[in-house]
Amino acid sequence: MPLASDKIRNQLAADHVSGPYYEEAESTELLRIFWDSASIFRQLFEKLDLTVTLELACGHGRHSAQMLDRVGKLILVDILPSNIERCRERFQSPRVHFVVNNGRDLAAIETSSVTALFSYDAMVHFEAIDMISYIEEVARVLVPAGRALLHYSNNEANPEGTYLDDPSWRNFFSEKMMRHFASRFGLSIVESHTIIWPPGGADRKIDAVTLLEKSSVCEAIEVRKGWLTKLLRESIIRRTARLLFRGRVGSAVRGIVRKRLGSL
Ligand SMILES: C[S@@+](CC[C@H](N)C(=O)[O-])C[C@H]1O[C@@H](n2cnc3c(N)ncnc32)[C@H](O)[C@@H]1O
Repeated sequence: MPLASDKIRNQLAADHVSGPYYEEAESTELLRIFWDSASIFRQLFEKLDLTVTLELACGHGRHSAQMLDRVGKLILVDILPSNIERCRERFQSPRVHFVVNNGRDLAAIETSSVTALFSYDAMVHFEAIDMISYIEEVARVLVPAGRALLHYSNNEANPEGTYLDDPSWRNFFSEKMMRHFASRFGLSIVESHTIIWPPGGADRKIDAVTLLEKSSVCEAIEVRKGWLTKLLRESIIRRTARLLFRGRVGSAVRGIVRKRLGSL
């Protein structure tokens, strides 16, 4: 049976097929929110390794246009085939790859293959259940020590509501939930900020932007090392015990034990 979230996800996608948003969002004023050198988005973006970059919910590619010349490979993902088609026309470069996804996961992307992932002005509308699924997917597709920069909703006001109930279409999620689920999927927080939206507007910190990092190979080895040490320790104890109770040494030990037990 389809969940209420499936219906809301489809509605959200349908609400992004057309409209004045895409053209307006390309204005210098709105682009500056993300790309001005003083913007928190820009400062965090500079902390990404752009060798293989994935932009989630890319729309018509206004952000890709800002940084295409700086990336090695760029993978553009969106739920809407029409948006991906628009990007295909806009970016005719062998370095750019296009994916239409199901709005929940990154199944087309190989595990540990992406050095940077970012998403702006889109996750703010997503269902919490999709946010959780995407956070898990982020942890999967990033290379060790890879980073993700996510802009999402910090609106806990109406847990039963949908994005349509908020004047800025902020769905139910929060920076605290991001911290919780990131920790569960093995991502650490490099930096995280709650921010007023729209910038310079009323004092409502309804958005958040978080820079996440997947654990490095060294950390992964450290964890394994701990596990390996335990295994070795247990195996040494087992072997010693077996030696003690086998052969000539074993029968001597068994004799001592029997004597000791008999004298009790
Ligand atoms: C407000 S637009 C933002 C586009 C772009 N990030 C930008 O800032 O210009 C939201 C985008 O999210 C996409 N979208 C909506 N729901 C999605 C989902 N569940 N998964 C992936 N993309 C989604 C829409 O198709 C649309 O391109």
